[in-house]
Amino acid sequence: MKIGGFEVGDWAVKEEAGKRNLIFACRDCIYSANVVTDQACRFHVLKILSEVQADITVLSEVYERVYDELQTQQLSEVGQLLNKFAIESVWATNNLGNPLGKADEAYLSNRYRIVVTIAQDLLAFDPIRAYITCLQELLREQGRFDKGNEEYKKGSSVFLKTLNYLRTEFEKTLMIKTAKKFLTQLKEVPDTKEIYQTMLEAEVKPSFIGSRLLFEEAEELELLDEYSVGKTSVQIFRHPLRTESLYFINPPEYSLSPEKYFVLSKTREIVAGYKPGKSSLSALSKARTYFERIYQSTIADVALQNNIKLEKDEVKELSAIVARYSIGYGILEILLSDRRLTDIYIDSPIGQNPIYAVHSDYGQVKTNILYTEGEAQSMVTKLRAMSARPFDEAHPVLDFDLPDLDTRVATIGPPLATDGVAFAFRLHKLTPWTLSQFIDVKYLNSTAAGLISFFIDNQLTIIVAGSRGSGKTSLLGANLLEIPKNTRILIQEDTLELPVPYMKKIGFNVQRLKTQSAIGGAASEIEMPADEALRTTLRLGNSAIILGEVRSKEAKTLYEAMRVGSAGGIVMGTLHADSAYSVWDRVVNDLEVPNTSFKATDLIMVARPIRFSGSLKSARRIVQITEVKKHWVDDPEREEGLLDLMSYDAKKDSLELMEDNLKESELFERVRKMSGLNFDEIWAEIKMRGESKQYLVDLKREKKLPQLLEAEYTSLANDKWLLLKEKFLEENTKLDHAEILGEWKNWVNTSLLKRVTGSIKPEKGKE
Ligand SMILES: Nc1ncnc2c1ncn2[C@@H]1O[C@H](COP(=O)(O)OP(=O)(O)O)[C@@H](O)[C@H]1O
Ligand SMILES: [Mg+2]
Repeated sequence: MKIGGFEVGDWAVKEEAGKRNLIFACRDCIYSANVVTDQACRFHVLKILSEVQADITVLSEVYERVYDELQTQQLSEVGQLLNKFAIESVWATNNLGNPLGKADEAYLSNRYRIVVTIAQDLLAFDPIRAYITCLQELLREQGRFDKGNEEYKKGSSVFLKTLNYLRTEFEKTLMIKTAKKFLTQLKEVPDTKEIYQTMLEAEVKPSFIGSRLLFEEAEELELLDEYSVGKTSVQIFRHPLRTESLYFINPPEYSLSPEKYFVLSKTREIVAGYKPGKSSLSALSKARTYFERIYQSTIADVALQNNIKLEKDEVKELSAIVARYSIGYGILEILLSDRRLTDIYIDSPIGQNPIYAVHSDYGQVKTNILYTEGEAQSMVTKLRAMSARPFDEAHPVLDFDLPDLDTRVATIGPPLATDGVAFAFRLHKLTPWTLSQFIDVKYLNSTAAGLISFFIDNQLTIIVAGSRGSGKTSLLGANLLEIPKNTRILIQEDTLELPVPYMKKIGFNVQRLKTQSAIGGAASEIEMPADEALRTTLRLGNSAIILGEVRSKEAKTLYEAMRVGSAGGIVMGTLHADSAYSVWDRVVNDLEVPNTSFKATDLIMVARPIRFSGSLKSARRIVQITEVKKHWVDDPEREEGLLDLMSYDAKKDSLELMEDNLKESELFERVRKMSGLNFDEIWAEIKMRGESKQYLVDLKREKKLPQLLEAEYTSLANDKWLLLKEKFLEENTKLDHAEILGEWKNWVNTSLLKRVTGSIKPEKGKE
């Protein structure tokens, strides 16, 4: 295409999230793709923008310069001004002087030259310079006017009027309005390039990434935190006027040198051929290292052929980037690698709002990533292939565990999501939560931890309840770690969330059964329905039975088994409900478990996100630990069948022990009968268990050793506690908890600490 004598690369308008993107293909253009530094480029862009309406302008080379809406508006207006001046022929003779005045003839050609220069030639290349020239010419002509005779003044006033008209028109444009601010601050006429630089600084991104990164003016933002995720830097900011914090990533692939972009795009073209097929997608993670090695040699090749010098590290970095955007999850992979995030939300319509996330320390955060429809589509393709499940109008929900990322993604599409597909990612903590860690984050206190640990050791039936995201599964996981290691544990889940591999690694005897998902449409046929699986589980003999989430029919089977005692020992599960009473309501009224069976539940724990008064911060807290008594018949609340052992006091932000209620507890009575311990001894045991966990927390804080609270060590500490107790009982008839605790602390301070500090390695990046 030829415009104004210049060869221009192709351009096209593409709609994305309701915005018109004017995209120039600059790859084969002989000019550089930059409206700031290259006048010719600026000329092309202004010319096209004078004819085409656009919201965003993109110059696309191996990387892309994106001019946002404000910048595009600035450029557009100038383009339109060019058109306007031409249509109006501002340089026509009758605009340059007195048409009847003979005296003017001598000046006309010069005035013509001036107006054409300002209103056309300069305007098309350098609008700010055109404006400055206009001002200068105005001054000059005004001077001549003042000195001129009457005859001259007649013609000059026409010319002055034209110049003034140009000036007013210039000053109506956003670009000149903005530039004026800079101009008045400067004494000398500046190099206009510098002004364009500040006004038209574009976001640069590689063309192979769809997502744009938005960086707001950092001036008014307060930096709260800064860390890196692999090679990407993350910054958390607070904005004075907004409630949510801002989460900015700056991945290396957005700021590489042009040579590296060149190598990247060449490499991508070459490797596009050997993308893994659908069948091998699931084996991808293992293949990843293999692919990265292939990419590395390709990158080295491309660099060599094009005389680009790359260090070994740089080749590795580039190959990681190629992997991320070919077989990986693209830009999302960076978010998914930040394990301080717990959730990532991409809402529809995609691209209208940036990606939101929930940060474990800063709550809800707004990221600087503007995801695109194209990226969402390829994500859907990937999820469909990996899960081997349908996702279409008939199956608008797709839940799936991303392999190796310990992340679960929930995808919804039309017609359920009317504005198109949307994603919610739940990032699981990489190591299981422990009761000590929960004490550390004030989810519960040491008394509650002691109580839980003691009851689990005494083989009770426990339901962990709460809303979505309140930490039920996490608490269930922490509870599992309190089960003595000589107990066999059978875990049944439809999505694999509980820390089974980790538990096996540290010596637990766990067997997991994966069941058919209750939601998400047509499940694969090889998976067993939860109810059927549970019958199998029960047949596997005496074990602790753990149900990841109690959702439907299996509840009946489970409770029936508990009622007749065939479930044996510990039974635990989570249930979506926000109080002990609503657990009963759901189990009995929704899941149709008879009251008599429901009473096989011993204990209900309820977790809830608490919003502190006067603050936007919310935190998770255990709000109820409730015993289910056995005497009632119809409604446990009316008949006082639910006895709070602990209850959360929001004013004190503490989970309080309900001492008066303890006297009425049937549970303690039962444990007393079973264990032969008296009430005081039971409490001594509970307190000691709590104190030992608190001791680890205190030590962690003092020594700044977060590892100490990881399951690997807390589980060792639990074992040691039990061993010391056994040993003590062999030598004595009565337990002396204080003495055991003393001995245990000794061991912690010597053996355990040494193990922890000896095992600390520098953190591995997840690149
Ligand atoms: N007490 C807590 N403090 C901070 N984060 C927590 C806490 N408990 C759980 N989480 C995190 O919250 C997210 C949701 O927890 P999860 O146990 O899956 O909730 P639920 O099963 O109730 O939906 C997880 O990323 C988890 O690591
Ligand atoms: Mg859960």
